[in-house]
Amino acid sequence: MLQRLSQLRQEAEHALQAVQDADALERFRVTYLGSKGKLKGAMTWLKEADPSQRRDLGQGLNQLKTELQQAFEAKSGEHKSRHPAQGPRLDVTEPGLPPRLGRVHVITQVMDEMVEVFGRMGFDVAEGPELEDEHHNFHALNIPPEHPARDPLDNFYIDGEHLLRTQTSTVQIRVMESTPPPVRIVALGRVYRPDTHDATHSSMFHQIEGLYVDRKVSMVDLKTTLLQFAHAMFGPEAEVRIRPSYFPFTEPSAEMDIRMTVRGRTEWVELGGCGMVDPAVFENVGYDPEQWSGFAFGLGIERVAMRRFGIPDIRWLYENDVRFLGQF
Ligand code: FA5
Repeated sequence: MLQRLSQLRQEAEHALQAVQDADALERFRVTYLGSKGKLKGAMTWLKEADPSQRRDLGQGLNQLKTELQQAFEAKSGEHKSRHPAQGPRLDVTEPGLPPRLGRVHVITQVMDEMVEVFGRMGFDVAEGPELEDEHHNFHALNIPPEHPARDPLDNFYIDGEHLLRTQTSTVQIRVMESTPPPVRIVALGRVYRPDTHDATHSSMFHQIEGLYVDRKVSMVDLKTTLLQFAHAMFGPEAEVRIRPSYFPFTEPSAEMDIRMTVRGRTEWVELGGCGMVDPAVFENVGYDPEQWSGFAFGLGIERVAMRRFGIPDIRWLYENDVRFLGQF
């Protein structure tokens, strides 16, 4: 038996020496070390062996197994270092894939720029809630209960008294209620109206409100401020017009339009309303209309963004298509 063992050792050693490539190495592993290999088969010798030889034979088989295992690993290590694995290689010098960076939404960019432009003219920024009460959205702005603007079908009412604000003019009231004159503020934010969606209308959009109250403020100050703003946003060649209009909270009132191209057609598009603060509004907030005068305006921010960047459809601003938004 012990002789068979030494024959097996010799045979295996020769076989391993003869190995030239990865396939032959694998064949060696299967033939000698595999679960159905010769070494496993040699374990049955133990049963057949003379009991006096069993111990030596057992030890010999175990030792042979360890030796062959080690010799096999050494050979396969040698083989790998001579023939490094083929397949995908790691090139650590290759530049990485740049991560896709987010950016500020075009509406927010325009809002930031507006704050900057009006800031240079001395306006502070004020804020107010998007969920408003009727007092601030209508009553204090001189819009009586029977006014068509208060129709429940034209507003998003939450309950009998509260609604999503339809205009940022609410912030005028909140500022004047809490601050003694003079005031010079802009308020920017979302407003909501159940308008039908088209290229220039959305049911949620953004407005910028301006309010300037001081002694002897005139329509000239209003017009100058709006023209300065238009030139800062659109350049000196921008075509702007101001025409008479009506709002319950300003007297006189006007509307400001800009020339822009919407869906291939160049036309005058309304940017916003403005006017001199109505004395009734001053009385509602406790300002003396004999001493104080002021102007106010409210402009659609989407319309400014559209004119500024030549965007022909307001709906594109809300689709969150990064291929579109990534251009600005
Ligand atoms: C107002 O909301 C007044 N509060 C403006 C104002 C303020 C007048 C202060 C006087 C003094 P108007 O409803 O016209 O006005 O809306 C103002 C601007 O918001 C419009 O000119 C337009 O640019 C924009 N706008 C109105 N409705 C929509 C809409 N559905 N989608 C997008 N923009 C709109």
